[in-house]
Amino acid sequence: MPAADVRAVTTVDDALRAELLACWVDVTNAGGAVGFVAPVTPADVAPVLDRLLEGVGSGRDVLCVLTAGGGTAGFAALVGSSSPLRRHWGTVLRVQVHPSLQGRGLGRALMEGVHRIAADRGWEFVTLGARGGTGVEAFYKGLGYAEVGRVPGAVRVAPGDDRDEILLARAL
Ligand SMILES: CC(C)(COP(=O)(O)OP(=O)(O)OC[C@H]1O[C@@H](n2cnc3c(N)ncnc32)[C@H](O)[C@@H]1OP(=O)(O)O)[C@@H](O)C(=O)NCCC(=O)NCCS
Repeated sequence: MPAADVRAVTTVDDALRAELLACWVDVTNAGGAVGFVAPVTPADVAPVLDRLLEGVGSGRDVLCVLTAGGGTAGFAALVGSSSPLRRHWGTVLRVQVHPSLQGRGLGRALMEGVHRIAADRGWEFVTLGARGGTGVEAFYKGLGYAEVGRVPGAVRVAPGDDRDEILLARAL
């Protein structure tokens, strides 16, 4: 595995935004399940990335940026709740490693960094949703997540192809 580092980012400059956008587009077009279905262009993904970055800019959320071999290799977002009853929980969104670097342990390194950053912020649990039919829940189960439920047919990847949203959770 290339030397990896995961850092918490709360301010995203234009250069990093461009790297995040390129990564998300490439991951989606390689078949990744991060909010879109291939094919996408930067114009499709940019508004969703910018909404994510608004939450980061507000201080509620934090971006976890993976670097490997000196470059941006992937990222995930940790989203906090505005409810006072849910301040001990974080939601993990948009977990992705660039397709050119997948399968080398970097996804595991990214998630270990996400868990460290979440624990440092005082969160006690993290939750996330995985798209059914992709098998990716096995990745999370290998990292200590338990499947806690499913929302049947919540994700319509195409007309006639509805997938469950698999809900996973892990204590930190
Ligand atoms: C999911 C993802 C982040 C994993 O990153 P990665 O760098 O490929 O994963 P790693 O090499 O660290 O793999 C860690 C372990 O998870 C397993 N694993 C990884 N991806 C898997 C998948 N899609 N399905 C099942 N198991 C998987 C690996 O086999 C490995 O198992 P091991 O520890 O027993 O050897 C990456 O494949 C990705 O970005 N996918 C596209 C985006 C996506 O769909 N994200 C999920 C959003 S819910």
